Amino acid sequence: MKNTVILAAGNSTRMKSDKSKIHHEILGKKIIEYIVDLSLSVQSDKTVIVLNKKDNLTATLFNDKRVEYCVQKNQIGTADAVKSAFNNIEGGSTLILVGDIPCLKSDTLKKFYDYHLKNSNHLSVLTVEVKAPDKYGRIIREDLKVKKIVEFKDASEEEILINEINSGVFLIDTSLLKEYIEKLDNNNEQGEYYITDLVEVLNKDNYKVGGYKIFDEDEIIGINDRVLLQKATRVIQRRINESHMLNGVTIENPDTVFIHKSVIIKKDAYIRQSTYLMGDSVIESNAIIGPNSVVENTHIGENSLVNNSQIYNSKVSDNTNIGPYAYIRPNSFIGANCKIGNFVEIKNSKVLDNSKVSHLAYVGDSDIGRNVNIGCGAVFVNFDGEKKHRSVVEDDSFIGCNSNIISPVKIGKASFVAAGTTVTEDVESNSLSIGRTKAIEKKNWVKNK
Ligand code: UD1
Ligand code: CA
Repeated sequence: MKNTVILAAGNSTRMKSDKSKIHHEILGKKIIEYIVDLSLSVQSDKTVIVLNKKDNLTATLFNDKRVEYCVQKNQIGTADAVKSAFNNIEGGSTLILVGDIPCLKSDTLKKFYDYHLKNSNHLSVLTVEVKAPDKYGRIIREDLKVKKIVEFKDASEEEILINEINSGVFLIDTSLLKEYIEKLDNNNEQGEYYITDLVEVLNKDNYKVGGYKIFDEDEIIGINDRVLLQKATRVIQRRINESHMLNGVTIENPDTVFIHKSVIIKKDAYIRQSTYLMGDSVIESNAIIGPNSVVENTHIGENSLVNNSQIYNSKVSDNTNIGPYAYIRPNSFIGANCKIGNFVEIKNSKVLDNSKVSHLAYVGDSDIGRNVNIGCGAVFVNFDGEKKHRSVVEDDSFIGCNSNIISPVKIGKASFVAAGTTVTEDVESNSLSIGRTKAIEKKNWVKNK
């Protein structure tokens, strides 16, 4: 039986936040989701998340029978947190994960498991050799064996200098865990029950305790405050960006590009700076995204360009140019070879192949056919103050500048709407709709005024 206990009941005081640190996000994913994914990646039969009684969000996040929850009533230390999960776990081994280390790699965790089994350890701790040990617990070794773990606040001047630290990840025989946790006390600087003290008490009874050391300190960044949150974000951002670059995607200035893990990018796509690719987006080959763009839950076709624009929950087909400064709102479809230009807003609309909405237009709740030209400043008036209405513009039509299309209307195939017209009724195919107040000329008005 492989149990995992995730410690996530802490008060997150150092985050200075209204919400628990485990609900803060890194590239679209909550910290706790990273930790649960880690547990599932090592085939845990059961993953128990230890929650604070104020936390009513975590239990709604995971739809997986293998994930269970328990509550730690009072936050009196990591050992007490583990104890809160005792009704949920039994037999075999228990993996203990602190809930704030999202950068740990599942590969490392697998190796740690192998190490624990190969050495028939009763307790193993994952440790890291770091340059600056900061406020982490120090690993005290004796003849290469791990003797105990001393918390930063309890460490002597000599111990403070130790560069091997506790990651907060343990593997332990479940029955020993249940027996020995009772032997821990809270005689320390913080007056807390420390899970780390298990090392010392098990050693005393000659159980086999081992430390598996890694050297990549990025992996165990524990997010205690916002500075560390940013540090962890950088690590995950860099890993994702580098994996895309190695797959043939150019990222001009990766420090400024944020790509969610869920995004698929095909080779020879080109990502310019200050760009966010989020959710379930797909970027096809040779597309150029950015600079300064946001693409969320959107498919961008081959050779398309998104320049200084934002697109949400939509699809853009091949060879289409978006922007600069376009805003494509959810549920829109833009066909192939289209042009959606500057300061255009499209919402819940279709624009089919070879059509152009070049500048300063608003297309809301409408179906635009093929080869349609929508002139500068045209507005689809979709809202009557109470309800939204839909309009249709059929293929090959031309909507002149500054016209108002008062929805719902249908503009038939190959029709013209003259610039400045307010269309309130359907227009038949091949027709012209024109409605302007005729301008009058007052000769020499300026001289005579
Ligand atoms: C802990 C370790 C430290 C290690 C570091 C690695 C202890 C005593 N110290 O320190 O050796 O180097 O992690 O990141 O274990 N929690 C509870 N209930 C509590 C207290 C904490 O569930 O009563 C949870 C927190 O939500 C957190 C985790 O346990 O996810 C660790 O607690 P935290 O306060 O972050 O411990 P550190 O001081 O970072
Ligand atoms: Ca921590």
